[in-house]
Amino acid sequence: MCGIVGYFGKRKASEILVDGLRRMEYRGYDSAGVACLHDGVIGLVKNPGKIKGLREKVDGSDLDSMQHAHLGIGHTRWATHGAPNEVNAHPHLDASGHFVMVHNGIIENYKEIKAGLSQHGIECVSETDSEVLVQLIAYCYKDNLEKAVSEALKKVKGTYGIVVLTDKEPGKLVAARCGSPIVIGLGAEETLIASDASAIIPHTRDAMYLEDYDMAVITADGVKMFDLQHAPISREVTEMDWDIDAAEKGEYAHFMLKEMFEQPSAIRNAIRGRLDFEMGTAILSGLDFSPRDTAQINRVLVVGCGTSMNAGMVGEYAIEEMAGIPAEVEQAAEFRYRNPIVTPLDLVVAISQSGETADTLAAVREAKHKGAVVAGLCNVVGSTIARETGRGIYLHAGPEIGVASTKAFTCQVAVLLMMALKLARGRRMPRHQGEELCRWIERLPELVEKVLAQNEAIKAVAEKYADKQNAFFIGRGYLYPVALEGALKLKEISYIHAEGYHAAELKHGPIALLEETTPIVALLNNIPGKEKTMGNAEECKARKAPVIAVVTEGDEATAEGFDDMIVVPDCPPCIAPIPTVVALQLLSYHIAAARGCEIDQPRNLAKSVTVE
Ligand code: G6P
Repeated sequence: MCGIVGYFGKRKASEILVDGLRRMEYRGYDSAGVACLHDGVIGLVKNPGKIKGLREKVDGSDLDSMQHAHLGIGHTRWATHGAPNEVNAHPHLDASGHFVMVHNGIIENYKEIKAGLSQHGIECVSETDSEVLVQLIAYCYKDNLEKAVSEALKKVKGTYGIVVLTDKEPGKLVAARCGSPIVIGLGAEETLIASDASAIIPHTRDAMYLEDYDMAVITADGVKMFDLQHAPISREVTEMDWDIDAAEKGEYAHFMLKEMFEQPSAIRNAIRGRLDFEMGTAILSGLDFSPRDTAQINRVLVVGCGTSMNAGMVGEYAIEEMAGIPAEVEQAAEFRYRNPIVTPLDLVVAISQSGETADTLAAVREAKHKGAVVAGLCNVVGSTIARETGRGIYLHAGPEIGVASTKAFTCQVAVLLMMALKLARGRRMPRHQGEELCRWIERLPELVEKVLAQNEAIKAVAEKYADKQNAFFIGRGYLYPVALEGALKLKEISYIHAEGYHAAELKHGPIALLEETTPIVALLNNIPGKEKTMGNAEECKARKAPVIAVVTEGDEATAEGFDDMIVVPDCPPCIAPIPTVVALQLLSYHIAAARGCEIDQPRNLAKSVTVE
């Protein structure tokens, strides 16, 4: 989703800003822009479309000739209010042309503010909610930018991460946050501001994260932090541990391909030091429950969005089956608004790769408000959900840049299995069973490697189906969430209309859509329910739909009579989602590649959805 970058230092600001925006491209956007300040003049370039276009526009513009512009701001916009055109792109200038700002988030009362400004003769030129804020800051300005910013922010309802500058105080940037992340990178004689660490890590590892209602004032003297009442505050400087190479795609054609192939090492990192073979349990320091605490957990509620919610469903099944604790997965936005029954005896687990998804964050706040014990399962260290939950487990999967989530899903499932194991051992699971599960979890990287080794075979299957317009994925039990995730992957990156269904549910409606051109991916792994899913796949075949059978190694006979076969390694039902989903990721990837799709940045999608 939208990305913010800001620079104050000695180097050429426009170059650092455009490069920072390029590094945040993966978040998803449809227009971009940069503004720099030099010799009391604000230079501004905006462009609908990709960063490449922006870069070309900057080259040879006033901004490019601003060799000595050492401060500026930049933005990638994912359109919410108003089309992705040049006028609506950020940075936004106020009507006087003295103030310029970038904004992430949504100003909910923008219409009201706009009407108020209009009464004072101030008119907005864009359709955005964001422009209203820079106009308001300019209106509130007397002689101090940070005072004007805090005045304006007090009148705003909604969410924001902003950076603003003015030619009236040329040596200053002001950043503020409420609900949209802002991280400040402290380099040698330079300061970087961004909504995402990926724009900062090439320059420095030392970072400060703004909390809601914090304001940072960046000048040649360094960074000073205030609350909106201007009381000085201090925030801890932390070291960002991501490796710069991890955010480059290297020899791979796409980040998604790289990230799929990173899964064995990502899972190794996710499980490292967390399996206790002797006690047959998992060591999860973020879930430091005593057996007594564990015995008191009444229910586990898992919340998330998109791929994270699908992973959560595997967790739901594992927690109920192994620990015997009632578990439910729920779409985070529903959880937030439907007044769910939550008690202090409930454990709410919020799953989010980015740790910034607006609906998941809101669900965390709702669960905390109702007194539940809340834990986060995040990949991005220091992210808002990780910090607000206070307790939880990091995935350690490394940066995931491809918009379609792959390694985060498999690591989420691996961590959820360990969570289920820990809860189960605190309740009803005998030690020897726990030990056996530890052994299978330890083998996950090897199982994934076996699937990755079939990349070419899966590619050959994929190419046969690349011209299709619709597809269904069916599965049961632990493979039902995998069917949902397989369909999600395919639609995200190939734009083929794909739906995941419980195998039994297909005949309650969707079967009406089956025809020769509608492939079915049937998850026929050798786990309980296989025969029934086979029956459902036969029903599809009888209606002429081609069937791609995913079967267990050694059980290839199951695929007889179907059109194509993908083989996955033999493993227990709770382990099967991980190798199986990897096969479906590869299938989707190769279908999308054969269709010439923009795999890493699919149209309209955002990596991190920070608006409701
Ligand atoms: C977006 C991404 C998905 C992701 C979902 C939840 O829709 O495109 O890949 O699964 O957000 O993101 P989170 O960071 O909370 O896991």
